[in-house]
Amino acid sequence: MARLAPSILSADFAALGADIDRVLPEADWLHVDVMDGHFVPNLTIGPPVVAAIRAHTDAYLDCHLMMTDPGDYLEAFARAGANHTSVHVEVGGTARLIDQMRGLGLGVGLALNPETPFSSCEPWLDRIDLLLVMTVHPGFAGQHFMAEVVPKVNQAAEAVARTGRPVAIEVDGGIDATTVGDVARAGADTFVAGSAIFGQPDPAGAARSIRQAAAAAAAPARLL
Ligand code: DX5
Ligand code: ZN
Repeated sequence: MARLAPSILSADFAALGADIDRVLPEADWLHVDVMDGHFVPNLTIGPPVVAAIRAHTDAYLDCHLMMTDPGDYLEAFARAGANHTSVHVEVGGTARLIDQMRGLGLGVGLALNPETPFSSCEPWLDRIDLLLVMTVHPGFAGQHFMAEVVPKVNQAAEAVARTGRPVAIEVDGGIDATTVGDVARAGADTFVAGSAIFGQPDPAGAARSIRQAAAAAAAPARLL
């Protein structure tokens, strides 16, 4: 399967509702990038914007919390209408954060940076819904896809398959119709794309192309 999650980080924040409406027909989820100016050197948006998006659409809101202290804000995101939150394994306190997300009824995700080994997430595989494998250094849209992360996607997908649990493998950073094939073949099933969708003259068409490329790449593996 190929689940597409356009990242609103590359949308026009002054016309966010209209930009979201443009991609919704081709989007499975919306990816919301939250940056705290500390875990990453950039600042973006928080619960008030999630609440505004929630008032605008029923879409599944996949919130990627690039924050040093996500635990202080999980409840605010849940109240704002987030469906899912992913916290970074690098910030620590993972057991407690997982409990908190679960307790709030949020989808539970763990994210890992390009240089972080998969082994840091392996102990939590039986308690999470999604593993977010960063294919760029988090902080900014429009960076180049890091092909060296592909083996880690494969390693994660194989470990998830061994658990028999439905843990999604999401990739994020530099994903477009050209790069999506590599990560789809490696076992990713959920694809975040920002600049390759919202930066384009026809965002819905761009989203469709990425989804089709992902599905085409993943299909042969399923037939084996
Ligand atoms: C990067 C963010 C990504 C980013 C993706 O820190 O987590 O979600 O918005 O943007 P593109 O697809 O342009 O790399
Ligand atoms: Zn993201």
